[in-house]
Amino acid sequence: MLLVMEMTPDRWSYTGEYLREVFGACDSHLANLMEEGVARGLPDIAVSPDVGRLLMILTSMTRAECAVELGTLGGFSAIWIARGLKPNGRLITVEPVDLHADFAEEQFARAGVAEKVKVRRGFALDVLPKLVAELGPASVDVLFFDAIKTEYPKYFELARPLLRSGGLLIADNVLGAGSWWIDAENNPHRQGADTLNRMVSADPDFEAVAVPLREGVLIAKRL
Ligand SMILES: C[S@@+](CC[C@H](N)C(=O)[O-])C[C@H]1O[C@@H](n2cnc3c(N)ncnc32)[C@H](O)[C@@H]1O
Repeated sequence: MLLVMEMTPDRWSYTGEYLREVFGACDSHLANLMEEGVARGLPDIAVSPDVGRLLMILTSMTRAECAVELGTLGGFSAIWIARGLKPNGRLITVEPVDLHADFAEEQFARAGVAEKVKVRRGFALDVLPKLVAELGPASVDVLFFDAIKTEYPKYFELARPLLRSGGLLIADNVLGAGSWWIDAENNPHRQGADTLNRMVSADPDFEAVAVPLREGVLIAKRL
């Protein structure tokens, strides 16, 4: 807690700029994807390229054949995950907003990953129990949470049975940089992320850590 208090928004933003400068390269499609998305009415809230690269590396390190993402937006993070999958791998990405899902599907085709990535239209809390029934326990190699922060603890409860031993749970915004310091006690998004961090950290079936890329990424390996 003390360390968090000593980190200032200026220091955080300097560190973030450095990480993006050194580790944030991406191809021209990905570099322009969110600009095109914003022009089409999407909010500018995708992960940064350095987080995308982390997703790709982690997905490939688990030799993932099946990944599930909550929160597609324009498909930016999904394309990084898809690039980390094994050749026969697939990603199911969950998104309730048609404008976002339609745009993302166009991007998957442009990126050449349309065969691997399927958008499941709906709310994560409705879709997750269906995925558990359809895919079965321990069937997923990578889970990525990036939808509603206040729902993160519930996502963990629902999605936990899906994750195989050795698989990774990854969650974005778990150090909520833009809001971490501001009215922390009354910020439900911060509390959702904090509850998830503590749930996963205390779970004897997981080994977890968070890294301060962009707004913080939780990485938890199922033992
Ligand atoms: C932060 S954005 C996702 C960004 C995306 N992962 C990326 O980095 O490219 C969050 C997305 O979650 C979607 N969303 C909102 N409510 C949701 C819900 N209940 N279940 C799943 N997704 C939801 C939003 O429409 C939005 O597209």
